[in-house]
Amino acid sequence: MLFDVFTIFPDGLKPYLEISILQRAIKNGLLDVHLHDLRSWTIDRHHTTDDTPYGGGGGMVMKCEPVFAAVEDVLGAPPACPVIMMTPQGRTFTQHVAQELVAYPRLALVCGRYEGIDERIREHLITDQISIGDYVLTGGELPALVLIDAITRLIPGALGDPDGAQDDSFASGLLEYPHYTRPPEFRGWGVPEVLQSGDHGAIARWRREQSLKRTLEKRPDLLEKFDLTPADRKYLAR
Ligand code: ADE
Repeated sequence: MLFDVFTIFPDGLKPYLEISILQRAIKNGLLDVHLHDLRSWTIDRHHTTDDTPYGGGGGMVMKCEPVFAAVEDVLGAPPACPVIMMTPQGRTFTQHVAQELVAYPRLALVCGRYEGIDERIREHLITDQISIGDYVLTGGELPALVLIDAITRLIPGALGDPDGAQDDSFASGLLEYPHYTRPPEFRGWGVPEVLQSGDHGAIARWRREQSLKRTLEKRPDLLEKFDLTPADRKYLAR
């Protein structure tokens, strides 16, 4: 899967692509991230990508020309893949949206900066807008990384364990069950007996019940949308 990221801070994204799962996915040819510096498509001496807003007021606005030129140069006109703007005004990014987007072989991500972007970019170039949550960051670079990270985990083979993403919190619609590893006792705190029993049926039941319990406690909103089995209902009714 190929991501084309358009930003004025390409160096800001690099370190995270050079560690762990993303680095390995790139090395294994499952993921490619092309970072495009929007300043390379400016034509003035100062490489200007922003300007003052029509109508006055504070702040600067990202200009049309470099963004259109960069995206069309790399992806053609009209662009050959979805062009996603990272913006707090977008639809909220969720595991469901990550699953939707992993189906594309290529995605372009445009990182906004400054107080805003010229509305004509939104109207005539961007095909989708995504927010990573109801708060405002200084730019779209971190949100772009969040998107790339969450989507890469869903590319078959990107996680070492083939079932890796299956039990994730949210993947099934429930929060994930608790995990333990050695030692069996740490500072007097033990590990649930059932996990050491070797009884796979009992372990699977315990994990399911823990997922239900956690989801009920922390995110009851998720349970409302979840298709409970008769056994789930029985457990929750206790
Ligand atoms: N740019 C600034 N804040 C953002 C957010 N919450 N999501 C996506 N892009 C953003």
